[in-house]
Amino acid sequence: MRSLLFVPADGGRKLDKALTSGADAVIVDLEDSVPPEGKTAARASAADFLKATVKLAKRPRLIVRVNSFATGLTDGDLDAVVAAEPDAIMLPKAAGGASIMHADAKLAVREAIAGLPDGHVKIVAIATETAASLFVAGSYGGASARLEALTWGAEDLSAELGAEANRDADGTFLDPYRLARTLCLAGAAAAQVQAIDTIAADFRNLERLKREAEDARRDGFTGKMAIHPAQVPVINEVFTPTPAAVAAARAVIDAFAANPGKGAVAIEGVMYDRPHLERARRLLARANAVGAA
Ligand code: COA
Ligand code: MG
Repeated sequence: MRSLLFVPADGGRKLDKALTSGADAVIVDLEDSVPPEGKTAARASAADFLKATVKLAKRPRLIVRVNSFATGLTDGDLDAVVAAEPDAIMLPKAAGGASIMHADAKLAVREAIAGLPDGHVKIVAIATETAASLFVAGSYGGASARLEALTWGAEDLSAELGAEANRDADGTFLDPYRLARTLCLAGAAAAQVQAIDTIAADFRNLERLKREAEDARRDGFTGKMAIHPAQVPVINEVFTPTPAAVAAARAVIDAFAANPGKGAVAIEGVMYDRPHLERARRLLARANAVGAA
């Protein structure tokens, strides 16, 4: 998933707009963008939207962000949406592998009731929204086969830390949030799932978005969340492997194939070994997934 576009579950026509935005995934939000008094109606709206779109031949991945365990709303959210067959739920304020096991059990029960295959609904976890969660970012591996991605957030974390800001005057994330970002990246790699970069809230500033997305790709993130459709094409472009990157990856794979049993090969005066081969394979897999190979 390159781009994941948030849309409030009570967003009316925004829901339809999200479908045609070009985003690889749409995150139907029941959490922060829906006020407490709107939660019940938002659940119904999310379920209706899923039912109307899940069988479409060509559609983005459909993810529902439920409310966190601490709110007491998670069970009601899952009761409302799992039978409508989302591809995944997003778990906010996740606190390590234990919370994924917890969500896994809740999903398994609802899948059984709805007659869905066990494991149908995957999990995307927001891994850095509480101070405590930072200390368990390395515990996601092996928690559940449902876990497909980790992402991170700076808003809730800055509130919890009692911070005045999370970005400096130029819009660059401050140290505590750089740490959260890195823990998300390392936690995802350790758990062998995708790392997805956080949102940029200033949705008119597409230049900064592009820079932030390029920084994320350079560091190992494979996608970024969006909150406005204008952000989607920028994110898709940054996270689509370029023809040159695909050709370079192919050259590494071909060089290893031509030299079976060798641990290192040379291409145009540069040494490539196993980590490069692994990186090349991953890049080709990402390119294949979006038809760019
Ligand atoms: N998904 C789909 N469509 C969206 C959208 C979104 N996230 N955000 C805006 N649009 C649509 C608008 O409805 C509008 O459509 P229209 O031209 O047919 O009327 C068009 O895109 C342009 O929108 P714009 O006027 O630039 O923005 P806005 O003032 O309507 O909305 C926000 C701004 C921030 C309220 C809106 O982008 C939004 O709701 N974002 C998601 C918020 C969210 O889910 N937050 C939780 C995660 S942090
Ligand atoms: Mg939040």
